[in-house]
Amino acid sequence: MRIILSASKEEAISAVATMVVDKIESHPKSVLGLATGRTMEPVYQKCADLLGKRKIKSDLCFFFMLDEYTGLPSNHPSSFKTYIREHVMTPWKVREDQVAFPPVHGIDIRSNAESYERLLKESGGVDLQLLGVGTNGHIGFNEPGSTKETRTRLVQLTEETRIANSAQFSEGETPKEALSMGISTILDSKSLVLLATGKSKADAIKYLMNHHDDPECPVTYLKSHPDFTLVLDPEAASKINLNI
Ligand code: GLP
Repeated sequence: MRIILSASKEEAISAVATMVVDKIESHPKSVLGLATGRTMEPVYQKCADLLGKRKIKSDLCFFFMLDEYTGLPSNHPSSFKTYIREHVMTPWKVREDQVAFPPVHGIDIRSNAESYERLLKESGGVDLQLLGVGTNGHIGFNEPGSTKETRTRLVQLTEETRIANSAQFSEGETPKEALSMGISTILDSKSLVLLATGKSKADAIKYLMNHHDDPECPVTYLKSHPDFTLVLDPEAASKINLNI
C-alpha cells in the first residue's frame, strides 16, 4: 500500500485527478472504474479542468460504475447514473456507449449481476479503479460483513450508510439495496486509488492502518492488492501516526 498524505484537501483532490489524467494520457484506451459520493465530485471536476488544459481526450476510454442503487428510476436525480452523467460524462465529454452502468432494472438481478461481471471480463478488466470509503469502512456498497470472495451482487445497505446518503433523498425514499461490484471484483483491477477526505473518514482510515482482511471493515481488504494507493487529506489522516 502506497500512502500519499496531502497537505490539504485540495492537494489530495489534485493528486488523484492528476493520476487519472496521467493514466488517460499514457493509455488512451484505459478502462476506468468510477466511484460516486461527495468525495469524488471535486476530483471529477479537477479531471475535467486538467483534460481541457492538457488537451487530452478520453474518447477512447471505457468506464465502469462501482455501484448503483436499486429501486430508483434511472433518471432519478440521486441515482448514481445521474451522478456520473452530471459529474463525469458531461464535463469530460464522455459518450453513453463509453460507460457501463450496473443493470439494476429488470426482474432477475442475479443474472444482471453475472452479465456485469461478464462485461468486465470482456473489457479486459479495470486498469484503474477509483474508490472512496464509507464512514463504516465500506467500499462501493460492500458493507461490513462482506467477504473477500464477493462478486457483483445485490447488497443490503446498513442504516449507517442509508443515513449518510439520506440527504440526497426525500423522507423515506432512501434506497435499502444496491447492485455493487464485490470485493474480489474490485481487487481484480490492475490498480486501485482510494481518496479519503474529512474527519468523518478518520476512524475508517485508522482501522485500515491497523487491520488486514477484516470483514467488519471491508476497506482493509485493499491492503492485499499489489498496486493500491491511499490518498489522504490531514483530517482523514488525523487519527493515524505515519512515521515517515
Ligand atoms: C457511497 C458509495 C461509495 C462511496 C461512499 C463515500 O455509499 N457507494 O462508493 O465511496 O459512500 O461517499 P462520500 O464520498 O459521499 O463520503
